[in-house]
Amino acid sequence: MSQIKNIAVIGTGVIGTGWIIRFLAHNKIVYAFDRDIKLKKNLVAEIKRSWPYVKKLFNKKNLNLKNFKYFTSIEDAVKHADFVQECVTENYTLKTKLMSIIGKYTKSNTIISSSSSGLLPTRIYSKCKNPERTIIGHPFNPVYLLPGIEIIPGKKTSKKFLNKAKKFYKSISMNTIVLKHELPGYLSDRLQEALWREGLHIINEGHANTKDLDRAIEDGPGLRWSLMGTFLTFHLAGGKLGMKHMLEQFGPALKFPWTKLKAPKLSKKLINRLIEGTKKQSKNKSIKKISNLRDRYLVDLLLMRKRYEKKLR
Ligand SMILES: NC(=O)c1ccc[n+]([C@@H]2O[C@H](COP(=O)([O-])OP(=O)(O)OC[C@H]3O[C@@H](n4cnc5c(N)ncnc54)[C@H](O)[C@@H]3O)[C@@H](O)[C@H]2O)c1
Repeated sequence: MSQIKNIAVIGTGVIGTGWIIRFLAHNKIVYAFDRDIKLKKNLVAEIKRSWPYVKKLFNKKNLNLKNFKYFTSIEDAVKHADFVQECVTENYTLKTKLMSIIGKYTKSNTIISSSSSGLLPTRIYSKCKNPERTIIGHPFNPVYLLPGIEIIPGKKTSKKFLNKAKKFYKSISMNTIVLKHELPGYLSDRLQEALWREGLHIINEGHANTKDLDRAIEDGPGLRWSLMGTFLTFHLAGGKLGMKHMLEQFGPALKFPWTKLKAPKLSKKLINRLIEGTKKQSKNKSIKKISNLRDRYLVDLLLMRKRYEKKLR
């Protein structure tokens, strides 16, 4: 659908490289810039290394490196772009300064997106000339394979550009989550950080090592999470009554507490939101029906995983 063809990628580290590969796989013309020109060699090597996987996933033909251009100035990289994906180091001062430069040299209808993992867009774009066409487009590593993307509007982002960005990301095989408004850490990294922080407490106190903690996720929750997240999983954990029974049984444990993270009070409002939210997610399907779907999926996933896990462990 999208008429967006020319993409500038600013910053060609881990995430910038991942974006370039995804864009090339979707027949875009990519204009790249990094302040460290030495990275170009590694970048091309990484595109070649990852291409067989990308090719298989997206059913592509041969890699066409003619669509990839590397520039030595930001101005040259962004001036013809329909879309800019910024991927420089996570830092407010750096990104704010860079966005004022990018805003100055882009065309009047170019969308500017930052790959930031948790910074607020209104602040990053506070010195950018055209804040109405700016967003955060937060991907997951490796960007060329994982479909997830969180889109976060700033206070001045226009609906028109937000929708255009959403359509664009969909056109390159991504599944978008558009946040209602900006919040630090967005959604996924807030969840990941909670888990991460708790893991650090456990390790710091000597209860387990990183390997055991990784296995605690890999062989249990992780296998389920690729199909359904925490809330729908817990809906099933409540048996026939779903989330309602789950909260009655395990709600009190939030007061122990098991973790170092402060839990919110289970107010009526919160309970209602959890029950109604999971009900909506389950689209009136019975617990049994969703359980069947989950189990079938897990069997398929385990069989498939066998081929890879011997190489990993
Ligand atoms: N690594 C991840 O898993 C991940 C996931 C999602 C989002 N992100 C976000 O992506 C962004 C980049 O992260 P990364 O992991 O690729 O970092 P990285 O350190 O691998 O790469 C950052 C690149 O930015 C370049 N750079 C710094 N200042 C620059 C400037 N003024 N002009 C041009 N280039 C400049 C550096 O030379 C470097 O190549 C960050 O905002 C980060 O939060 C990272």
